[in-house]
Amino acid sequence: MDINQIDIQTIVSKVMESLGEEPKAQSNNTGHTPKMAKVAVLTAKEKIEVKEFEIPEINDNEVLVKVEGCGVCGTDVHEFKNDPFDLIPVVLGHEGTGTIVKLGKNIKNDIMGQPLKIGDKVVTSVTITKEDTFSKMHPEKANLSDHMDVYGLLTDDKYHFNGWFGEYIILRENSSIFRVNDMSLKQRLLIEPAAVTVHAVERAKTTGLLKFNSMVLVQGCGPIGLMLLSVLRTMGIENILAVDGDNQRLKMAQRLGAKYTFNFKDFGKFDDMLAGIHKISGGGVDFAFQCTGVPSAASSIYKMIRRGGGLCEVGFFVDNGDATINPHFDLCQKEITLVGSWVYTFTDYATTLDFIRRAKGIGLPIEELVTHDFALEDLNEAMHVNMRLEGIKVAFVNK
Ligand SMILES: NC(=O)c1ccc[n+]([C@@H]2O[C@H](COP(=O)([O-])OP(=O)(O)OC[C@H]3O[C@@H](n4cnc5c(N)ncnc54)[C@H](O)[C@@H]3O)[C@@H](O)[C@H]2O)c1
Repeated sequence: MDINQIDIQTIVSKVMESLGEEPKAQSNNTGHTPKMAKVAVLTAKEKIEVKEFEIPEINDNEVLVKVEGCGVCGTDVHEFKNDPFDLIPVVLGHEGTGTIVKLGKNIKNDIMGQPLKIGDKVVTSVTITKEDTFSKMHPEKANLSDHMDVYGLLTDDKYHFNGWFGEYIILRENSSIFRVNDMSLKQRLLIEPAAVTVHAVERAKTTGLLKFNSMVLVQGCGPIGLMLLSVLRTMGIENILAVDGDNQRLKMAQRLGAKYTFNFKDFGKFDDMLAGIHKISGGGVDFAFQCTGVPSAASSIYKMIRRGGGLCEVGFFVDNGDATINPHFDLCQKEITLVGSWVYTFTDYATTLDFIRRAKGIGLPIEELVTHDFALEDLNEAMHVNMRLEGIKVAFVNK
């Protein structure tokens, strides 16, 4: 895909006005880089091959970043298994971070107005790939544009260095770059999944049902559910119930501040677990977040919510099939307020950086969510570890 066609700074400046600063220092293009570098290419289903390409010269509007690492997302695993987005051949990896080694002379600042220079640590958010009426009319909803894209989900092209699963990545004109020098590698690896959950919480807040003393249920304690739980904790929400089928993940949920945990596999019948949840919550929780990606879970979550409560559906970035509900009992009779959540916006990234600092400030061990790190050559195994739900956040780290 061509991502060189629109001035993202113009779009973003509308929503980032309050965060903008005056442009400051200009950096030079003086980084030393090798002629050739490796990327991990998904060349067929379940087959990642490390290939070496010449690093192209960057132009005045591009940035060359030496990759330090990148988390493996469930979406990468779906692509690895089935290529649902029809991207093969593709260099995956969209939860990445690295160090600027070459900076086009027109790139002066990151998206928040902070000056950029060689040596800065950066992450990237969504990119608008093409002039688009929707994103012009709704700059705050860039995540819903037909032309929204992210590095790591771009079919291989002449650049090759299109995803974070490689030694280098080229950030093209109009990329949304964030300077994050003050964060550890693990914190930076978590920014992208954290942004997904910050966005979900922002969507939940629009219902007016997410309050300081709300009883909130998080269904699914993978990286997304656990990060979401952490966001709730940084907001001061303490009455949190976590549901999963894996005790290690539920233990982590407890460490991150879940007051109650339910392993659905411990119950012979769903109704027995439901009775337990209703007992603790006095007839259902005020608000629930669905973070499993499992259709049967997406159906059953309505039963756990009180009359007049709310639900944020986060769990389906890929199409895992239909989920049935009973509109009479599940929606109308209870007047449930339902919101969906889809990736994140540039502004969510700014909030996410604050969330990560605050999580550290209140002692939430979010860095422990990164449980595995694999070399580029071992990404096939990283995918399988992820599929077996071993650990929590599996990452690629350039060693
Ligand atoms: N909305 C978005 O923009 C967005 C972005 C990224 C990811 N996602 C989605 O979020 C979902 C979660 O991502 P993840 O990386 O945490 O995945 P994950 O597979 O690691 O975690 C899912 C968890 O759900 C648990 N689970 C399965 N069935 C359950 C049930 N019936 N009740 C309770 N828990 C159950 C699993 O044990 C697992 O721990 C994925 O399906 C992904 O597509 C959405």
